[in-house]
Amino acid sequence: MKKILSVFLAMTMLFSLAACGTTEDQENSSAEPSDSGSAVSGQEASNSESANSESSEMETAAPESELTEAGAEEQGSNILVAYFSWADNAILADDVDAVASPSVVPPGNVQQLAGWVQEETDGDLFSIRVTEPYSSDWDECLERANQERSDNARPALVENVENLEQYDTILLGYPNWWYGVPMALLTFLEQNDLSGKQVYLFCSHGTGGLANSVELITEAAPNAEISDNIFDCYEEEAASSQEDIQAWVRELGLGAVEEPAENAAAQQISVQFEGGTVIYELNGSTAAASLYEQLPLTVEVEDYSTNEKIFYPPEELDTGDTPLAQAGAGTLAYYAPWGNVVMFYGDYNENPSLFELGQMISGGDLVSGMTGTITIDVIEEYLSCLRF
Ligand SMILES: Cc1cc2nc3c(=O)[nH]c(=O)nc-3n(C[C@H](O)[C@H](O)[C@H](O)COP(=O)(O)O)c2cc1C
Repeated sequence: MKKILSVFLAMTMLFSLAACGTTEDQENSSAEPSDSGSAVSGQEASNSESANSESSEMETAAPESELTEAGAEEQGSNILVAYFSWADNAILADDVDAVASPSVVPPGNVQQLAGWVQEETDGDLFSIRVTEPYSSDWDECLERANQERSDNARPALVENVENLEQYDTILLGYPNWWYGVPMALLTFLEQNDLSGKQVYLFCSHGTGGLANSVELITEAAPNAEISDNIFDCYEEEAASSQEDIQAWVRELGLGAVEEPAENAAAQQISVQFEGGTVIYELNGSTAAASLYEQLPLTVEVEDYSTNEKIFYPPEELDTGDTPLAQAGAGTLAYYAPWGNVVMFYGDYNENPSLFELGQMISGGDLVSGMTGTITIDVIEEYLSCLRF
């Protein structure tokens, strides 16, 4: 029986072949098996009476902290990355056949995709897990999943999402199971109300594409805003899909990573005193960002040696990703041992503790005469005309 199931599924999977992509760049409908045999009966069942006795036994537990890896402590993200993956839902037998049941060995395909989505969005990660894990044997897992589909079962979950109201965007990942979704995904959708939330789907599959998955999800979450820009990925391409799925996330406007670098490179600050205003352009380093975050500042400027004016920001700067200063007069620098910012108006020697924050772009003659109270502030509008 097991072999028949496997062969049947493998045969129907071969009807179509789809690599990674989005619904915008490939036709997934053509990837749906036309003879969705038992899947159709499963879907018919899903239209009939739902919620079997399992659903009433489900717990509404707070997610364990390990599952909300990102943002859990910050309590800040409005993005949730929820996913189901076999690897998170199997008892991994010692003698598991990694060839016959490849994705059960962590990382699972969707598990990997979800991790990259989390990394790109900086959202919170939530793994959908059943209380009774599946076998790590491919045939046994197939058989149980097929039975659950036929029964329109709702496998009980270990936990639901805490603070669901905090999220307005949900990225939901799942594997294609029997031309649809693991039934636990429907449990998740019925127990975690996504009404009014923007939902983006990503899916990994054999060769069956999205099949009926979107219909099933839409039926279980009728009031969610489910985008038809869906990322889907052939199972053998999942491991090499980081770039593709992160590009998709950025295309959705949910990328949280790159902007600082570009903006930081364009960040300018003014140093005002009685005698005029000097303007610096920051270099995008971590130390420059730390200074920028502390602005505006009003402090006393001090003389040091014959080539420096210095001041002390209230907080230490993070020199983690900051180059050493080496550009001569006009450099804005940070001397880490003393925690002071330096405005050079003459040449200086390089020093392993002297980090560069940026370069002066206007007011060169003024620095040597700087005295008394100075105000350092951000320049909101980038002054391109002042660049050398
Ligand atoms: C129980 C089960 C049923 C599956 N059914 C299908 C299917 O109908 N069509 C398909 O293309 N792939 C099917 N697959 C393959 C998975 O969708 C694919 O391997 C996916 O990449 C697994 O992701 P995961 O490792 O995160 O679980 C099935 C896999 C399992 C375990």
